[in-house]
Order: sequence, then structure tokens, then C-alpha cells
Amino acid sequence: MTEQVSRNALITGASRGLGLALARRLAGERWTLIIDARGAGALEAARTELAGLTRVISIPGDVTDAEHRRTLAGAAREAGGLDVLVNNASILGPSPQPDLLDYPIDALEEVYRANTVAPLALIQAVRNELKPGARILNITSDAGVEPYPGWGGYGPSKAALEHLSAILAAENPGLRVYWVDPGDMRTQMHQEAFPGEDISDRPLPEESVPGLVELIEGDLPSGRYRAGDLAIARDASSSGS
Ligand SMILES: NC(=O)c1ccc[n+]([C@@H]2O[C@H](COP(=O)([O-])OP(=O)(O)OC[C@H]3O[C@@H](n4cnc5c(N)ncnc54)[C@H](OP(=O)(O)O)[C@@H]3O)[C@@H](O)[C@H]2O)c1
Repeated sequence: MTEQVSRNALITGASRGLGLALARRLAGERWTLIIDARGAGALEAARTELAGLTRVISIPGDVTDAEHRRTLAGAAREAGGLDVLVNNASILGPSPQPDLLDYPIDALEEVYRANTVAPLALIQAVRNELKPGARILNITSDAGVEPYPGWGGYGPSKAALEHLSAILAAENPGLRVYWVDPGDMRTQMHQEAFPGEDISDRPLPEESVPGLVELIEGDLPSGRYRAGDLAIARDASSSGS
């Protein structure tokens, strides 16, 4: 009997929120998962849960740390290469978010390092581990497009990630590069963005997952997508309308 080659995904920030929701979905389809987060306790809880379904390599660490990125790349190599890299890990910055004129510059640099520089640095670190046809998903935000007052740290960090992704796609026609707005989600980050507010009306991150899966398993060209639109398009095509 021949052993089936595994499908391998590296998902950053998979200890909670969207990253964990996507990891759960891919684990259910027996993908081999490489996951990280800074908080080792929550990451271990995620690993324990996911390991009931599939092979999971969990590596606690910070995506802004070059040594950690090298460790992730080493794990990708040992797994036999990556079919998918999801740059999901991200920080909001100070909460409540300061206006730009009052934004502490060291905090701004931290937001850019995590949300803009680290995703590219991780792509560079795993470039030789990407299998032919591999997909790169950079998770962005509508705050990277709309100039919402009060979003001057996080928003431009995502705008830069969007443009960086577009240039990466233009420079590498052989790669599938997707920059994806997952939509509002009821997560820790969203609560930090709206401190003290009731966010129970926001959809759970699980609702954004089908759109991401469409990019992972479909055949769409490189580009910017919104997870919600992809899910609607898939439902329409599967119902024949
Ligand atoms: N929630 C929304 O409404 C919304 C809307 C648009 C876009 N997004 C985007 O969707 C993605 C997921 O967001 P979410 O709402 O699920 O956030 P979340 O609940 O705060 O989860 C973020 C995950 O990333 C990890 N992480 C953060 N910084 C990290 C770092 N430097 N290195 C490694 N791991 C790190 C966190 O664990 P540790 O803290 O333990 O490291 C956690 O596992 C993000 O890219 C976010 O910008 C979210």
C-alpha cells in the first residue's frame, strides 16, 4: 500500500480566533498542521484538541522573532513542504486605539513589525519549502482600505500588507498570493478594538472559514478577496444559481 502524501499548512496565530477556527477545519480534513502563538498555554490547549484529529506540530513563539521563523521553516521542511502558508497572527496595538497625533511611535513600530514585516519575513523564510502550486494567505482587514478614525496604527499596517501582497503576486506569477479580509469576527482582537462594548452581534470566526477554504482548495488567481463574498459565490454555484 502506498502512503498518501500529506497536505501541510502553516497557520500563524492558531491558539484562538480565526487561526484556531481554520486549524480545526483543516484538521478535520486530515491536513498536517504547523501552528504557533506567543502564549504557550493556549497553544498547547489547541494542539491537544487538534491532535485528536491530525498530526500537529505546535511551536510557541513570536512571528517577529527571526529565530522562531527559522524554526517554523525547519518544521515545514521536515513535514515535506507547505501546501499553504496562512499569515494570520496579528496585533491591534494599544487598546483603546490612540489617534495618530498621539500614537506612541514605539507601539506603532511594534504593530508594523507584527502585521506587516513578519508576514513577509516568514514568506522569505519558507520560500524554499513551498510546494508547487502552494498558496499564501495574508489575512488583512477592511481597516486596511477604509480610513476609519482611530485605526491609524493597525489600519495602515494592514494596508501595507495588502500592497506588499499585490507586489509579491506581480513579481511571482508562479505563486498564488491571496490577501484576504475575513470580515468582522467575535474574537479577542475585536473586543480589544471595542473595549467595554457588547460585540455579541458579530459573527464567530468559524463563519469566515469557508471563504478561506475556497482559496486553499479552489483555483482562484492571486488577488484581494473578502471571505464573506467567497462563501456566497460558493453557495450560489453549488445551488446552481
Ligand atoms: N476579529 C476581527 O474582527 C478581524 C477583522 C478583520 C481582520 N482580522 C484579522 O484576522 C486575523 C485573526 O484575528 P483574530 O480576531 O482571530 O485575533 P485574535 O483572537 O487576537 O488571535 C490572534 C492570534 O494570533 C496570535 N498572535 C498574535 N501576535 C502574535 C505574534 N507576534 N506571534 C505569534 N502569534 C501571535 C495570538 O496568540 P498570542 O497572543 O498568544 O500570541 C492568537 O493566537 C488577524 O490577522 C486580524 O488582523 C480580524
